[in-house]
Amino acid sequence: MKEGNFLWWHRAIIYQVYPRSFQDSNADGIGDLTGIVQRLDYLQTLGIEAIWLSPIFPSPMADFGYDVADYTAIHPIFGTMEDFDHLLKEALQRGIKILLDLVPNHSSSEHPWFRESRSAKDNPKRDWYIWKDAREDGSVPNNWLSVFGGSAWEWDEATAQYYYHGFLKEQPDLNWRNEELVEAMLGVMRFWLDKGVDGFRIDVLWHIFKSESFADNPPNPGFAPHMPGYDSLLTVNSTDQPEVQDIVKRMRNLTDAYKDRVLIGEIYLPYEKLMTYYGRNNDGIHLPFNFTLMGINWDAQTIASSILAYEQALPPNAWPNWVLSNHDRPRIATRIGEGQARVAAMLLLTLRGTPTLYYGDEIGMKDVHIPLDEQQDPQGLNMPELNISRDPARTPMQWDSTAQAGFTTGKPWLRIADDFADHNVEKQEEEVNSNLSLYKKLIRLRQTSPALLYGAYKQVYIDQQLLVYTRELMGHGGFLIVLNLSHEPATFDIPSEYGGNVVLSSTGGTYDWKDGLLKLPADEGLVIHTSTHLQD
Ligand code: NOJ
Repeated sequence: MKEGNFLWWHRAIIYQVYPRSFQDSNADGIGDLTGIVQRLDYLQTLGIEAIWLSPIFPSPMADFGYDVADYTAIHPIFGTMEDFDHLLKEALQRGIKILLDLVPNHSSSEHPWFRESRSAKDNPKRDWYIWKDAREDGSVPNNWLSVFGGSAWEWDEATAQYYYHGFLKEQPDLNWRNEELVEAMLGVMRFWLDKGVDGFRIDVLWHIFKSESFADNPPNPGFAPHMPGYDSLLTVNSTDQPEVQDIVKRMRNLTDAYKDRVLIGEIYLPYEKLMTYYGRNNDGIHLPFNFTLMGINWDAQTIASSILAYEQALPPNAWPNWVLSNHDRPRIATRIGEGQARVAAMLLLTLRGTPTLYYGDEIGMKDVHIPLDEQQDPQGLNMPELNISRDPARTPMQWDSTAQAGFTTGKPWLRIADDFADHNVEKQEEEVNSNLSLYKKLIRLRQTSPALLYGAYKQVYIDQQLLVYTRELMGHGGFLIVLNLSHEPATFDIPSEYGGNVVLSSTGGTYDWKDGLLKLPADEGLVIHTSTHLQD
């Protein structure tokens, strides 16, 4: 791709705001839209050019907004439509784009569509959801399971049929084989695009079509008892059906009728399947989320081979992307420790492709232990023995050392980290070596370096501890990135052609570089500007 052909979403860093936990403006202990407006200056200074808001729509909150009861309105907890318009305007003034969360696979059971659908078998909206008769013995139509535990079928006494829910029973799946439903959901997209939102993150996109046969899913030979019951089956019939590609194309066509909008798909699939969501001719989702770094073992060999496999699997002209954390998984600093989380930041912001950053990761926030009697996430509550509550990764943003970390003047909906007085934005803004300072430097370097934005990725060296690669762009020089992905010191003989100067160190600089030999302390990453290399 030529430099002039790049669009804003190739360059931008996407920042995920979990609205409940970002900033409360009305003391109810829950973050809101006005709160986000108050923090836009912070995001601008950080160098963020796009924010993705987890759902802000009316919802009974059975799954914290991923159970939508009205797709074209704002939940009063978050504010009003005027507040949303205000946010759009204020963000625009700061050069920040707004992406919304589209939840097309399922609605809330409180959505008027579902109320109608369940009211009678001959209701015109019956077919907007997935209804099936019981088997002869009265049992569920097939063996499909819910991600959140138990059968995915719920019996409806009044109309004597089962409905399908891939998640909670309060989240009935919509029937994407019904054209009226498709039109309604595309209408939802138009509604927000007309308002000026810059695109969508699309929830569980690979779930929206189920096999027409509704055949049982086969057992998963890799299943182990520590896994959620959902993983006991291979979801070959209940997810990732070929028909999804037609809808993806329609979503893309619709989006292309507007200028410069972007579609990001939440898709947890192996590379060869993930890549199909880019579309045959790059006419699908612009950025099917790449969750590689959230799921793999954190060691140099695994990371290096995953990056190469991903780069090689990308279709021609498809643009890569990388994610370190989100609201569904433990935070990066909890998964790999504080030191490595800084190396991970360096990796995220020097890889080729659009990075997505989860709120709070920039200050090294960690998961917060939430006692069972305070837990709220249905995933955790339904499967307490598995310890998979998502609450710990969703705690309020730590802004300053005042009460409730500056997040609220009320009682926060989830408890705040005990050590917030030491770990917060205000403190880290003053410390040259803080996590936040590192993020700011990395972001600034990335956003001002065409080689980091658009240059090729080339692996230079790999061993048990180190991953070394270049990002180079003809005419713009390049960078050598040396990451010690271990907790032990490491050494690297820098090939002579990569001479240059260190522009960033993840620890603040305790490395030693003499006569071509680089000695790195534990958990150290370096970005070296190889200014003399690859000039044209
Ligand atoms: C994926 C979302 O990220 C998650 O939070 C939610 O529970 C499920 N989809 C169901 O919508």
